[in-house]
Amino acid sequence: MNHKPEESRALRSLREVFDAGRPLTYIKSAEEHRIVQLLTDAATSFFQPAVPVFAWSLTDGLRRCDGAGKQNPPAEDLSPRAVLDYIAKYDGPGLFLLKDFHEPLREGGEIRRRLRDLYEVCFDRRKFVFISSPLQFIPDELTRSIILIELGLPDLVEIFAFLHSEAPGIEAAGGKVDLSDKTLQQLGRALQGLTLDEARHAVRRAVAQTGSLGTDSLAALLEEKRLLVNRTGLVQYVADSTKLEQIGGLETLKSWLTDRRRLFLMRDEVSNDIVPKGVLIMGISGCGKSLSVKAIASCFELPLYRIDMTEIFSGRHGTPEYSFAAACRMLEQIAPAVCWFDEVEMAITSAENAGEQGRLFAFFLTWMQEKSRGLFVAATANSIDLLPAEMIRKGRFDEVFFVDLPSDEERVDVFRIHLLRRGIKPEAFNLDRLKRFTKGWTGAEVEQCVVSAMTTAKLEDRELNDDDILNATANIVPLSKTMKEQVDHIREWAFDRAVRASPREAGR
Ligand SMILES: Nc1ncnc2c1ncn2[C@@H]1O[C@H](COP(=O)(O)OP(=O)(O)OP(=O)(O)O)[C@@H](O)[C@H]1O
Ligand SMILES: [Mg+2]
Repeated sequence: MNHKPEESRALRSLREVFDAGRPLTYIKSAEEHRIVQLLTDAATSFFQPAVPVFAWSLTDGLRRCDGAGKQNPPAEDLSPRAVLDYIAKYDGPGLFLLKDFHEPLREGGEIRRRLRDLYEVCFDRRKFVFISSPLQFIPDELTRSIILIELGLPDLVEIFAFLHSEAPGIEAAGGKVDLSDKTLQQLGRALQGLTLDEARHAVRRAVAQTGSLGTDSLAALLEEKRLLVNRTGLVQYVADSTKLEQIGGLETLKSWLTDRRRLFLMRDEVSNDIVPKGVLIMGISGCGKSLSVKAIASCFELPLYRIDMTEIFSGRHGTPEYSFAAACRMLEQIAPAVCWFDEVEMAITSAENAGEQGRLFAFFLTWMQEKSRGLFVAATANSIDLLPAEMIRKGRFDEVFFVDLPSDEERVDVFRIHLLRRGIKPEAFNLDRLKRFTKGWTGAEVEQCVVSAMTTAKLEDRELNDDDILNATANIVPLSKTMKEQVDHIREWAFDRAVRASPREAGR
């Protein structure tokens, strides 16, 4: 397609309408403010000289909406019928937005008839009519005359323009604005995934808190976004900045990720085959699967979104098939991002009947192949038996990793990390001697041991010492003991099906 690089996705879809010369367009979106902005942009950038833009609503009638000081059309009659007549008679080119026109369409055969006439009248006269509505209602007799645009979420180009448009207001109110390239990128990424109305809301709240728009307001913006995105219930924004260094062991996985990161950053320049698509991480509970996914997002410097399979299957958002597809579509719009399908095996097992399972799963696999380059899928699974062979087969994911119980050295590493995380210098402790007492422990159990030792010391009002940790080990019964058979089974199963996330050590 031939378009200027700075053109937003939304503006591009409008350009296609004009290029095709289609006089009637139905824009499905609740964002009226944004539509007016887009039409105004289109009126100046696609037409020489610029054409006027009018907007109509049942309450306000027809008004010029492309800037101040322009003359409004006479507004004695606000009715839907009157506005269609006005457009039909209007002499010259123009863009006409009819807000919430699904209602008049629903009500009257006369209105529908009139709209079809308008098609003929506007054709080839550079008069374009846009109906906007959050609902999609196109009567049968109009489907051939009306082109439908679903205005997705704004992309970065649109968000950048929006941020620039907010700046003067903030500065006028005495706030500081930093929209240098780097900051703009960060702010833009933080707002991706929101509608423009939501972005405006988030920016204003953040500015109210911090008095500025720039790196200082980033944390507040991300928090606003977390609240807004999570409201949909299907996709959650995970604000977590776990770094690769905060994972103990799993060196093979870490170095693989570091390599993929480079390829992922080059995704627009390299061939599709080598752009990283995603990774499947499975293994024993509490050994760092979720932790690793969070680290992927910060390693790739991307926001992390988690798809809650329980929500998908709850029925609250329609059938599982429908809501899963909706979630995937939403992810496409917030690319670039890491999307985390937690307990992905649920997609295969939780559906009520086998037909639905098959379809959902087939959809997932196709989507994996076709999704946008900017999305990296991180799937995690516990119940490995439920994973079908097609899922694991080479080519679906770039790699399938198995996260095993940590080795002696890895456990020491995990101890170190958790002490550090709680502000305690690990060098002061003899961690090596803990190896013997923590065989078969998961990372989560090591963490639990550190917490329990710290609690003891705190209760006795003293600094943590070596013995506190050693004593705490006695009270923890590891999962690998209580559920030995299950753990053995997972290990055996994964042996020839997955790559170990940790380098193999002698005797294992
Ligand atoms: N390798 C590790 N390095 C550091 N911390 C770890 C490691 N493994 C586990 N932990 C600690 O244990 C907690 C639980 O781990 P995590 O949530 O990643 O487990 P999981 O594999 O996702 O388990 P589940 O299957 O139950 O979801 C982590 O939040 C982390 O604090
Ligand atoms: Mg987990």
